[in-house]
Amino acid sequence: MLAAAALADDARMTTPTEDFQISPEAAEVYEARFVPGIFAERVPHTLDAAGVRAGQSVLDVACGTGVVARAAVDRVGPTGSVTGVDLNEAMLAVARRLSPGIDWHRADAAALPFDDDRFDAVVCQMAMMFFPDPVAALTEMARVARPGGTVTVLVPASLASSPGYSRFADVVGRHAGRDAVGLVTTYFALGDLDGLRLSFADAGLTGLESSTRTGHARFGSIDEFVATEVEGSPLIERIDDDTYGAIREDCAAELAEYVVGDDGAVAVPFDCHAVAGRVEA
Ligand SMILES: C[S@@+](CC[C@H](N)C(=O)[O-])C[C@H]1O[C@@H](n2cnc3c(N)ncnc32)[C@H](O)[C@@H]1O
Repeated sequence: MLAAAALADDARMTTPTEDFQISPEAAEVYEARFVPGIFAERVPHTLDAAGVRAGQSVLDVACGTGVVARAAVDRVGPTGSVTGVDLNEAMLAVARRLSPGIDWHRADAAALPFDDDRFDAVVCQMAMMFFPDPVAALTEMARVARPGGTVTVLVPASLASSPGYSRFADVVGRHAGRDAVGLVTTYFALGDLDGLRLSFADAGLTGLESSTRTGHARFGSIDEFVATEVEGSPLIERIDDDTYGAIREDCAAELAEYVVGDDGAVAVPFDCHAVAGRVEA
C-alpha cells in the first residue's frame, strides 16, 4: 500500500521492525505518489475524529511528509499551533521544505521530546501498526496531551473488510504460501476495532469514540498496485521470477473490477478505523 517499486530497497515501511530510515528520493516519491494516492483522502477522517478546531495546539505523531499537519494548520488557524514528529529524517526533510512554519522534530512515538500536558490534540494517521509497542506509544501520546485533551489514531480496518486487498492476499498465499501473506498485510495488523479500543483503555484513555470510513488506494494500473505491494515488502526477497509472474498474472484477473479509468488506473477500496480517546481531566 505504501512503498513503490522504486522504493523497494530502502523503504520497508511495511515491516514494523525496520528503523524506517529511507532515502531522500524515496521520501519525495512518497509525497508525490502515495500521499495523493492513499493518505490525503484520510486526513479529514483523522482531523474530524480528533475534533481539531481553531486555536488548538496539535501534535501529529509519525507525520511522514506532513499531510495531516498541513491540514491541521488550516483548521487551528492563526491562534493555534501544529507540531510534527517522525522517526524518519528524509520524511521530515520533505515536510520542512513544504511547510517551514510547522515545528518538526525527529523522535520515536514512544519517546516524545515534549513536557507533559502540552497539546490539545495528538493525532497519528496510518502509522501505529508499525510501532513495536502500540500501547507504549499511546501512553506516551496521552502523557503529552493536556487533561481533557484527545489522542486520535487512524489505522486500516481488518483485511477481511477490504475485499481487494483480501483477494491480493489470497493470490499471494496461493503462489508464495500462506506464510508469505503476513509479509504483505502488515497495514491491516491493528484492524480489529475491539482490540484497538482495548489498547486505548490500556493507555488510560477514556470516553472512546470510534468511526469507520471507506477510502481508496489509487494506482496507475493493477500491475503498479502489485509491484508496490510486493516490491515494497520483504516478499520480493522470498519469491523467484516465476512466482512473481504468476502473482501478477492472477491479480490482473482478480482485481479487474477495481479498474476505474480508460487508462487502466485502479482504485482499491479499504476501510479505516479512527479511535479517539480523552485524557482524564
Ligand atoms: C505510512 S507513513 C504515514 C505518514 C503520515 N502520517 C501520513 O498519513 O502520510 C508511516 C510513518 O510512520 C513513521 N514511523 C514509523 N514508526 C515510527 C515510530 N516508532 N515513531 C515515529 N514515527 C514512526 C514512518 O517514518 C512513516 O513516516
